[in-house]
Amino acid sequence: MYPVWEGIFIHSAMFVAIVSAFHVLVSHLTVAAAWFNLYLERRAVYENRPELYVYLKRSALGLLVFAYVFGALAGVGIWQTTTVANPRGISTLIHNFVLYWGSEWYMFLIDVVGIIAYYYTFGRVSPRTHLRLAWILALGGTGTLTLIVGILSFKLTPGLWFTTGESLNGFFNPTFWPQLLTRFFLMFTITAAWVMLIATSLPKGYFAREQIIRTAAAIGLGGLIIALGIWFLWFYPVLPDHAKTILRSPAIPPITFTVIVGGLIATFLGLLFALAMPRRQHPIIALGAMLVLFAAIFGAERTREVIRKPDIIAGYMSSNQLVFNDIPARGIQSEEEPLNETGMLGSLPFLPRPETISVGATAGLPDHQVMMGRVLVIQQCAACHSVSNQTAITIFDQRLALRSLAQLLERRKMTTAPKIEAYLQRIGAFPYMHPFVGTPEERAAMALYLEYFVQQQYAPQPQAQVRR
Ligand code: HEC
Repeated sequence: MYPVWEGIFIHSAMFVAIVSAFHVLVSHLTVAAAWFNLYLERRAVYENRPELYVYLKRSALGLLVFAYVFGALAGVGIWQTTTVANPRGISTLIHNFVLYWGSEWYMFLIDVVGIIAYYYTFGRVSPRTHLRLAWILALGGTGTLTLIVGILSFKLTPGLWFTTGESLNGFFNPTFWPQLLTRFFLMFTITAAWVMLIATSLPKGYFAREQIIRTAAAIGLGGLIIALGIWFLWFYPVLPDHAKTILRSPAIPPITFTVIVGGLIATFLGLLFALAMPRRQHPIIALGAMLVLFAAIFGAERTREVIRKPDIIAGYMSSNQLVFNDIPARGIQSEEEPLNETGMLGSLPFLPRPETISVGATAGLPDHQVMMGRVLVIQQCAACHSVSNQTAITIFDQRLALRSLAQLLERRKMTTAPKIEAYLQRIGAFPYMHPFVGTPEERAAMALYLEYFVQQQYAPQPQAQVRR
């Protein structure tokens, strides 16, 4: 149901998470790899070491095919998934940052054309001209990173934008610099794994192999240590108190931290191993390192997204896509109070009026109230919860869903409509959820749908038997 797409088989938030974790892995890789290649190419030119070009060429081809093609596809994927998962959130970002995004696309164009030019001009232009291309790639990539971090960090800490409404204030917000620098240094850790992958697949006799692996491992370790330092000394301290509360709440399952910390420790040890014994490296180890990093990035990026819950833009718009704060500088008013008067249904462009919701049109729901409730539950709860069977799959007897409301309510023994309704009245007390918005009748309808959903999951009506 637009403008909230629950997802299909897996929850919409998970589509976003999977696509973006992959995109983060390869996009960070391309930027730091461009710097690493620039460093090597400078040595090739100024120390006259043509053998380094063997590595450079292989790396550039790998980046062109793997990182640029799939990375760029995943970038488009982020637009698609975020647009269906939270259209108003994306719309707000576009309304504030369209020119920044435009500039980012120019930078990206330089990047994409740049890597093609870079790869195909090896040995065809003078070494110094080729070195200039390496500079352009490194700077272009860093430009895209910088621009996108401004927009990303705005969602967590809009900062002065609340008072001035100016997009520059939103861009240079309190978490912009620490996030940019954490990412910048961590990129080199990802790149170290990439360099190992490329270098280990070069012939054993290639004599710059060990040296390249060692350099990459050293840079990767350095990047990891500096990035962790920035996180603990700068990034974490400037996080809003609310974000710190969420960090310690059930909103982030403990397994996430295990994966992130475990992944970082494994990477650290792997890089030490590469530094000490560059000869013993193998493409399989490098591939393993990439997978470990993917898992750690998945955990870290999800955590970054979750710590601003219950908002899509902290302090301004809820994950339910409602503006709950006044921004006089932009002439924006909170939408929640009026909606509590008028009701949700029929008041938002894509939420149908109660009378147009017809019985039986969707999934054989029992009556009109339950159908109304379903629409409202999707609008108010589906941003963070599985609210129907559409977003659950069963794999090896394991039912996978995102914080399924049926499960959470059943576990708390809130299985009847009156109990659920009382619960909905207090829901804003959790730091990661907003108060319910709408009229008491709408709240009652939501409780009815949730009761139906719990019953459907835990006391399935064997329809086939009834018919017999
Ligand atoms: C912005 C995200 C978000 C939205 C929107 C949201 N929730 Fe939650 N909710 C959470 C998180 C995070 C948790 C913690 C999950 C856990 O305990 O495993 C949670 C937990 C819950 C729990 C269990 C709480 C407890 O510990 O007693 C219930 C019940 C619940 N939500 C119901 C709802 C309902 C009903 C709605 C819609 C009106 C809703 N939620 C909307 C994020 C959200």
